[in-house]
Amino acid sequence: MNEEFTYEIENISKTYAGNTVLEVEHLSINRGEIFCLVGPSGAGKSTLLRLMNFIETSDTGKIRFLGNTYEAGSVPPLKVTREVTTVFQRSALMTTSVWNNVIYPLKIRGKNITDSEVKRIENILDDLGLLKLRDQRADKLSGGEAQRVALARAIVFKPTVLLLDEPTANLDPANIDIIETIISKYIEQVNSSIVMITHNIFQARRLADRIALLHKGRIIEVNSKNDFFENPHEDTTKDFLSGRMIF
Ligand SMILES: Nc1ncnc2c1ncn2[C@@H]1O[C@H](COP(=O)(O)OP(=O)(O)OP(=O)(O)O)[C@@H](O)[C@H]1O
Ligand SMILES: [Mg+2]
Repeated sequence: MNEEFTYEIENISKTYAGNTVLEVEHLSINRGEIFCLVGPSGAGKSTLLRLMNFIETSDTGKIRFLGNTYEAGSVPPLKVTREVTTVFQRSALMTTSVWNNVIYPLKIRGKNITDSEVKRIENILDDLGLLKLRDQRADKLSGGEAQRVALARAIVFKPTVLLLDEPTANLDPANIDIIETIISKYIEQVNSSIVMITHNIFQARRLADRIALLHKGRIIEVNSKNDFFENPHEDTTKDFLSGRMIF
């Protein structure tokens, strides 16, 4: 799959109980980029990510994903949806060992866990400081440890798209640093795309190639990281960056 765009979104919208919370005319995500979504609470960021993960479907428009177009209301086949995964702010882990949690995505995809696979998975755990915890029960871990397990479980099967919904919210600086380092390393190793929601504009500045501001369900501005911060086009972006945004 060598398409330049992972997603091309046209005119999608989502309405809950008569309230339209998302209206995106156009959005493309490039292969191999880290794309950060920022915006105030309630802007529709998580809703957009759920549509991109096909957990929900849009009410209008279409999403072109990995070379195929999915009209409003339709979802790709399982083989395609398994190319994308989301790490949430608090991801649910299974009540079994860290190791079993991390290899689960490989198992459900029918992958053989050969000796070289074991080495590869151990390397991921090591990068995330989890090797010593491999036999611990995942549901007894601290918040930071659990979030690192959730990230290991997401990247272990090399998804074409990794969606991150505030993956480091409420974590301490050391955990944030480990997670940011592995996100950067991952995108270098695997030519996939990452779409990440963050409330931390410094984090967006550290990680993103491009940034979009979402406000009241609409994309206000999409810009390269440098221009988003140094030379934003829109007054709303300036207000957001300066903390002056009125909801
Ligand atoms: N399943 C749902 N049913 C009804 N309303 C919903 C549903 N999901 C989201 N909403 C509403 O849609 C709007 C956007 O929500 P969303 O969770 O996408 O915002 P967000 O940008 O992720 O906010 P935050 O930064 O607080 O996570 C909100 O007003 C929310 O109440
Ligand atoms: Mg959200």
